[in-house]
Amino acid sequence: MTTFTPAVNDIYEQIVEVTGPSGILTGDDVLSRSCDPLSVKPTQASMIVRPGDTEQLAKVVGLCALSNQPMVVHGGRTGVAGGAYSDADDVVISLERMNKIEDICMASQTAVVQAGVTLEALQNAVQARGLFYPVDLGSKGSATLGGTIATNAGGNRVIRWGMTRQNILGIEAVLADGTVVSSLGRLLKNNTGYDLKHLFIGSEGTFGIVTRAVVKLVPLPSTHYVAFVSVPSFDKVIALLALARRLPILSAFEVMWSDFYTLAVPDASSKGPVPPGQPYYVLIEGLGYNEAADQMVFNEFLEEALSSDLLVDAVVAGSEKQCQDFWRVREGTEVIVREMSPFIAFDISVEIPAVEAYLSAVREALRTSYPHARFVTFGHLGDNNIHLGITVGPNTHDVAQHVEQLVYDALPAFGGAITAEHGIGRFKKAFMREQKSSGEMEVMRRMRTAMDPARLMNREVMF
Ligand code: LAC
Ligand code: ZN
Repeated sequence: MTTFTPAVNDIYEQIVEVTGPSGILTGDDVLSRSCDPLSVKPTQASMIVRPGDTEQLAKVVGLCALSNQPMVVHGGRTGVAGGAYSDADDVVISLERMNKIEDICMASQTAVVQAGVTLEALQNAVQARGLFYPVDLGSKGSATLGGTIATNAGGNRVIRWGMTRQNILGIEAVLADGTVVSSLGRLLKNNTGYDLKHLFIGSEGTFGIVTRAVVKLVPLPSTHYVAFVSVPSFDKVIALLALARRLPILSAFEVMWSDFYTLAVPDASSKGPVPPGQPYYVLIEGLGYNEAADQMVFNEFLEEALSSDLLVDAVVAGSEKQCQDFWRVREGTEVIVREMSPFIAFDISVEIPAVEAYLSAVREALRTSYPHARFVTFGHLGDNNIHLGITVGPNTHDVAQHVEQLVYDALPAFGGAITAEHGIGRFKKAFMREQKSSGEMEVMRRMRTAMDPARLMNREVMF
């Protein structure tokens, strides 16, 4: 049995009354749970509380608020900005037991979903009804709807369906004092007062805990095309993107630089989708509803790209399995982790025409300080979102702050932002202050103070 200080013991006793003993984890059950995607960072907290429903959660938050007890919220714990990190005196609130899909409405193409449901579980459940939730991430098996709402997660299909923000119609949340705000409408159009869901989406849990949401669905696509191509110059990648944007079925345009491709497919000459040796590789995906028409437009697009000399090599997946194989190249993060570690991962935004100039500036700045710096570069180019992995050798983490400074300092000159989709969390706090104007910081501070005056919710994230 874990021994607590008298103050923590008081809260524990009160919370047990609400959730029952099975709703609380302590001791090794806390420490053995990681709070990062690589499972190296153990959760620190006096306890992990796992409420079974909104009512319990509201009571738990209310009790914590009365005791001035800081709280950290856990979804799938695979966010990459340290948003799930906690401290030894925190109470962690996990949404894992709030994992039901309550309703799927065929007429409005919406679902009411509890925050602890994983993206994959949501995708599978709606798929069985002929519907589709378009937000898609590599970590969909662990990422929860609540976590993706709190971070306004992006992912692979933003170019067609937008970020999480564009796919949420309503939200229920518990505020820092335990008040429940229910704004669960299914209406696409509703201008009655402030649109409160947007306050919570992307707030990284600083305004309250999202407990349920109404998600917007689309008809389940019945056709799937994936092409993997190599491109000889960045100008041609931009021209290819412009051409691809004319495809009504375009659902992903994922660019991989040669530093990524040679790492992800080391023996590309025999096993890669296309031969190696080019500076850029692109995975282009189409999802549609009409086999004959979709196939025709997808092929016409590739033929036009080839006849305009935009491509060196191109291959179209001949089966669903091959579609998955091509995607696995793009999502081949294990090999990056294996070959690059220790490394620092970035998810910067840069205006599309400035991407190469920005990357050259950063590479040069890095190599001046760290001659052995190595890079891996890929991203959702259509969303102006580039992922950079950087290692400067075994001591990368000791100099992380300097590496980050070099990457971020170059951004304003190119119209960039320090995070496109992963959020600020704990890791990028110091840099956000440098990149936001004082007016923007002031509005954020006022909003946070209004929503959580004692600063109890996720107190170490964002600013
Ligand atoms: C991806 C993650 C890193 O796009 O955002 O694979
Ligand atoms: Zn991404």
